Amino acid sequence: MAKKLFIKTYGCQMNVYDSARMAEILAPLGYVPGDNPEDADMVILNTCHIREKASDKVYSELGRLRKSKDRRAEEGSPMVIAVAGCVAQAEGEEMLRRAPYVDIVLGPQTYHRLPEMVARAHRAGSGAGKDGEAPNQRGVLDTEFPVDSKFDHLPERRQVNGVSAFLSIQEGCDKFCTFCVVPYTRGAEFSRPVAQVLEEARQLVDGGVRELTLLGQNVNAYHGEDEAGDEVGLGALVARIAALEGVARIRYTTSHPRDVDDALIAAHGNIDALMPFLHLPVQSGSDRILEAMNRGHDVAQYLDTVARLRAARPDLALSCDFIVGFPGESDADFEATLELVRTVGFTMAYSFKYSARPGTPAAGLPRQVPEEVKDERLARLQALLEEQQQAFNAETVGRTLDILFERPGRHPGQLVGRSPYNQAVHVATTEYRVGDIAKVAIDSCKPHSLEGRIVGSGAAHLREDSEERLRA
Ligand code: 5AD
Ligand code: SF4
Repeated sequence: MAKKLFIKTYGCQMNVYDSARMAEILAPLGYVPGDNPEDADMVILNTCHIREKASDKVYSELGRLRKSKDRRAEEGSPMVIAVAGCVAQAEGEEMLRRAPYVDIVLGPQTYHRLPEMVARAHRAGSGAGKDGEAPNQRGVLDTEFPVDSKFDHLPERRQVNGVSAFLSIQEGCDKFCTFCVVPYTRGAEFSRPVAQVLEEARQLVDGGVRELTLLGQNVNAYHGEDEAGDEVGLGALVARIAALEGVARIRYTTSHPRDVDDALIAAHGNIDALMPFLHLPVQSGSDRILEAMNRGHDVAQYLDTVARLRAARPDLALSCDFIVGFPGESDADFEATLELVRTVGFTMAYSFKYSARPGTPAAGLPRQVPEEVKDERLARLQALLEEQQQAFNAETVGRTLDILFERPGRHPGQLVGRSPYNQAVHVATTEYRVGDIAKVAIDSCKPHSLEGRIVGSGAAHLREDSEERLRA
């Protein structure tokens, strides 16, 4: 009989990708994904550690799950509880001590061994593992950084879901921004070999995917080896993926300004399938703060990179991450951030209050910014970013864009798709289906979405201007 698997995913797209792969690796064991933790045979919490209270949230979720697990144990049907991801990596052994009813604690680099861990958990007697248990009934812990990459052991991508898919090409980070836990939880920078990435892309496309989002904590630090043993950067990799039959759109995230090289900039100008949208976090607009954050670039270098990208692709839409209230951030530093936002103009952005992460260098810095100052700065920054997003959406009205339909809308006969600039677009149509690309005239906008009507079929991956060139 099929066993039910419930995965709750916190945090970034890398975790969304990892959760999908965990489901795939458990499928041969008979686990079928479901959406109810109460009656699941196995529950995985795929956790994120990037900001405050992450581990508190996980422990309170575990407290709730423990009740379901106890109830099921009384009914004679055990529930396996696994905690994966960055909180698991950071807490390790401590998690098994604090929540002894957890069966498996695994890090982001070891989930290819999940079947083995599940078997060990069953041998240890899941449903046991309560307070006061025998030491040999402790949960399974695997938070190693194995020499062997998990990617060498994962199954094919068979359970493709939807027309837009994530594809992890790079993991880890060597940048050590002073506020960030990622280099500790995800480990050193690692790039998957080119052939492996192309093979996974092909499997996804065969399953109906039309848009690939290449993922990495520092995706543009990508330097995978090709078949000849040569190092390939992200620009060249994008070109090779774009050449695969059936790939209509390519995006990538998250980039570091320091790793935007000439080849990547050229790719934005030359490769039609590479969408004109780039998430390029700057975190702060103050040189002093960027230095204290150990970002490795200043404001002028960021602006220069943006200018070169826009020279290659004038309609490039930019998105960003910001942190307000980093230790020592003065009013003038914060004003400099607002100034940078006004100068660049972002079409969307994420902004966060600085949160001291234990073990990171910035957590020990003097002059931590009071909470109410952070609140006030965040509200001002978000108001400006919101204004820019709405202005961008308003400017899109009247244009005709290629829209890739991703899912049915809430109303019958409606589809929801994405513009090249990553805007959600609602269209009434009975003619087109999910997975199609249509030319849509944008008629109106709401704060976070657009509405339009079909005016023709979309080019698979032709840019607006290349089509105009073709017509001329
Ligand atoms: N506090 C607040 N925001 C953080 N981020 C990373 N670490 C912290 C922290 N300690 C934000 C950064 C990063 C995004 C993924 O999360 O803006 O780009
Ligand atoms: Fe964290 Fe900085 Fe690495 Fe991004 S570049 S993952 S913010 S350390």
